[in-house]
Amino acid sequence: MTNEAIPNLTAFDEAALDRAFASLEAQARADAPALEAELFRLKWLGRKQGLLNDVSGQWLKAAPPEAKKAVGQRFKVLKELVDGLLEGASGAGPTDAALRAEAIDITLPGTRRLTGAEHPIVRTMNEIVSVFSALGYSVGVGPEVETDYYNFESMNFPPGHPARDTQDTLVVASQERRASRDRLLLRTHTSPVQMRTMEQQPPPVRIVIPGKVHRNDAADATHSPIFHQVEGLCVDRNITFSDLKGTLDHAMKALFGSAVKTRFFPSFFPFTEPSADVQISCIFCGGKGCRKCKQSGWIELLGCGMVDPAVFAFAAEKQPAYDPKKISGFAFGMGVERIAMMKYGISEIGSFFAGDMRFLNQFV
Ligand code: DAH
Repeated sequence: MTNEAIPNLTAFDEAALDRAFASLEAQARADAPALEAELFRLKWLGRKQGLLNDVSGQWLKAAPPEAKKAVGQRFKVLKELVDGLLEGASGAGPTDAALRAEAIDITLPGTRRLTGAEHPIVRTMNEIVSVFSALGYSVGVGPEVETDYYNFESMNFPPGHPARDTQDTLVVASQERRASRDRLLLRTHTSPVQMRTMEQQPPPVRIVIPGKVHRNDAADATHSPIFHQVEGLCVDRNITFSDLKGTLDHAMKALFGSAVKTRFFPSFFPFTEPSADVQISCIFCGGKGCRKCKQSGWIELLGCGMVDPAVFAFAAEKQPAYDPKKISGFAFGMGVERIAMMKYGISEIGSFFAGDMRFLNQFV
């Protein structure tokens, strides 16, 4: 192939050089997409007739000593441009050297990306919720920063009532100018969502409410200032304590296995009357008595009771259908950490919140 020759250079000042090289650059840019890669290579880089060979042979050689550097620099830039164009030229693909630099060893193991997994607390919470979903319960949530009214007053804890002291409450600071029922606190239980639910919808209601709660408790093996509960509420005509017992007995068997027995012990909560603590037969010893159940054969797991008429009276302020003469209901509340600790044999509640992957990986 014979190349069109490069023009002769007569002037070697900067401006003349710029013009001469710019025209070659433009030519190279126009050739790259127009010529086949091998033709482009021959035309520009061919050992004998390549244009770059001509440039170094004619322009560089002809340059007076003081202009050689300026020509050399421009030549280098032009050469890099031509090399780059050749690499990117259609069909040419990268050079061998470029390929080698980028080569990957496909026999090496790939980068393993960790897939997320449910935290054991979330998993347990979902499991509890699904037991009740299967019974036709809906699922609700409520705010973690709650008013005194919902957390306490509407749950039948009157102001100054000693039962408030059993729930060491974390309150939001600087609210002295607010009416006491409007003061904000971190909810100490999920029970306030009972009231929020009843205000939103008339009976019948069947709902479970999973969520995070806070208490000013010192942390130890079984206490954490942040923990989780699942609340339950069922309101309709003719709901009785038998319904409560049957529902919770079924739920405990679904969670811990069908061999588990339940029993109901009298207790007190301001928002239920009567109130009960639910115990299940010890899942570790089957009820014979062991260290975990303090030799009693029973483990206390949750609180429950029939909704107190005083609670319905608060709900009736917004939804008159909550007339305790016409409807009745039961409620329950359980601690998720406690249930998860039993199900998975965990002895330190803090393990859930420490973020230690050696612990968490066991639940993947
Ligand atoms: N709110 C109670 C607590 O945090 C748990 C509880 C007991 C909830 C009895 C209920 C209930 O709905 O009926 O200790």
